[in-house]
Amino acid sequence: MFSLEITKDYQELSEKAAELVAKQLKKKANSVLGLATGSTPLGCYEQLVKLYKAGELDFSEVHSVNLDEYRGLAAEDKNSYRHFMDENLFSKINIVKEHTHVPDGMEENREKACKDYDAKILSVGEIDLQILGLGLDGHIGFNEPADSFSKGTNCVRLTDETIESNQRFFQSKEEVPQEAYTMGIGSIFSAKKILLLVSGKAKAEILEKALRGPVTPRVPASILQFHRDLTVLADEEAASALS
Ligand code: GLP
Repeated sequence: MFSLEITKDYQELSEKAAELVAKQLKKKANSVLGLATGSTPLGCYEQLVKLYKAGELDFSEVHSVNLDEYRGLAAEDKNSYRHFMDENLFSKINIVKEHTHVPDGMEENREKACKDYDAKILSVGEIDLQILGLGLDGHIGFNEPADSFSKGTNCVRLTDETIESNQRFFQSKEEVPQEAYTMGIGSIFSAKKILLLVSGKAKAEILEKALRGPVTPRVPASILQFHRDLTVLADEEAASALS
């Protein structure tokens, strides 16, 4: 069972998402937030910055773990997810930089990068609220369709569909890294609460599959149907294929 809330548009979705994060932080000031990148959570982050600037939110005790990072991109690279988070959220609120964690894209040794990030995730404690976007092929984090659900952090080869879809942030398709480090489905699933944000017509079909279809690693987000505390916020366009 999950709760599904359909909003009229992206703006309302972003406001509602920020309200849920704010509620979490008011309940527990030292919450661990699981954070996502991509265009979908951007509006929510903007709202959080607004609430912070209005004196309504305090991030000083918050710890965060991000879902993923491109392998081979440095923190300073404008396409890295570390840079995305710094630019769009961390630099605009009073979170302590040392409390924010993103996999190290510059660690070439895949095994070490994954082990280190799992250790980081363990060190911050249970994730209180995990924000997720949804990939066009049903991926969460960068966990692409596979034969089994991943447990811990893993290094994935991005699918062509994902590379093409993420190309919009880069100059050319060739520039998009082919691999990424991502938190595993097991770690994502361990979060106490999950908030899945989905916007736009292009996501309607995959959202329907994820929420109503069989639970299968071929649609990684479908595992969320089993989660105890999942809230799905979808705008009308994204929800248009749900009966
Ligand atoms: C990327 C990220 C995902 C994100 C997805 C969807 O692949 N790794 O975490 O959910 O894109 O992105 P968007 O929100 O831009 O559609």
